[in-house]
Amino acid sequence: MASSFNVHSADGYEQLMGRWSRRLAIPFIEFAGVRDGERVLDVGCGTGSLTFALPEAADIGEVRAIDYSPVFVEEAARRNADARIRIGQGDACAIPFPDAAFDRALSLLVLHFVPEAGKAVDEMRRVVRPGGVVAAAVWDHLGGLPVMRLMWDTVAMLDESAVEKRSRYCFQPMMQPNEMRDAFVKHGLTDVEQASLTIRMDYQSFDDFWAPIAAGEGPLGAYVTSLDAALRKKTDTAVRAAYEAGRPDGPRSFAAVAWACKGVVPQGVEATLPPRARLPVSSPL
Ligand SMILES: C[S@@+](CC[C@H](N)C(=O)[O-])C[C@H]1O[C@@H](n2cnc3c(N)ncnc32)[C@H](O)[C@@H]1O
Repeated sequence: MASSFNVHSADGYEQLMGRWSRRLAIPFIEFAGVRDGERVLDVGCGTGSLTFALPEAADIGEVRAIDYSPVFVEEAARRNADARIRIGQGDACAIPFPDAAFDRALSLLVLHFVPEAGKAVDEMRRVVRPGGVVAAAVWDHLGGLPVMRLMWDTVAMLDESAVEKRSRYCFQPMMQPNEMRDAFVKHGLTDVEQASLTIRMDYQSFDDFWAPIAAGEGPLGAYVTSLDAALRKKTDTAVRAAYEAGRPDGPRSFAAVAWACKGVVPQGVEATLPPRARLPVSSPL
């Protein structure tokens, strides 16, 4: 399986996460350090939060963006009005570009959905020139995302079957302290640096917060929409109480922390993946 991502509607994704990944893209680009004229690859572009922020941060030469999901590729391409940006379908574990084609490969909130995340790091390293940079960020689901924990902790209190789901959510790939840093080192990157990036997620009301999940988006959405009517009602009430925290419904703001890592591609690294992963750089992607 190349991906465990299970959001299917671009609008739902925007409300659940896209509006926040747009915020996170700014400190992530600062951390990854893009420069004028560079060729940059966005791996797992989704609806384009990072893709479209890149040319705003520097006078980028070219951005190529790939995503596994055709729904997201279509939506990101629909939004694109910049001739320097090209978006297409592709798997992070078999990136459809030749070796050393980019100055940087960046990936925002993707590696935790890739069961073989190390393979994706290998591929990002392969397509970046020696001296170029590979950078990635994932949420810290266990310790850095209280807005999601308040929901998972609530459902795990109400339903034994949610306990295992919470555990899976908290320990997705690359989320434990130093896990991504160690993977970057193991997969041949040098000068590896790790950081915590923080944004705030600001909701207008409980409905603003809960609507995409109530509609079935993400792993929690899949869970709540599978409940029988009685447990669903209990769940909605308990999550609302956790959101409101004893005050009337209204705006709430939550800190959100991501693990970020970057590393440099050393001189003389040989590509390790089979040629089938490599298409000409002039490929339509
Ligand atoms: C949480 S979204 C992040 C999207 C975007 N980078 C952002 O920050 O808004 C995760 C994205 O990773 C993509 N994805 C998951 N596994 C992938 C894989 N193996 N190859 C490419 N994209 C993948 C999903 O389709 C989804 O668009």
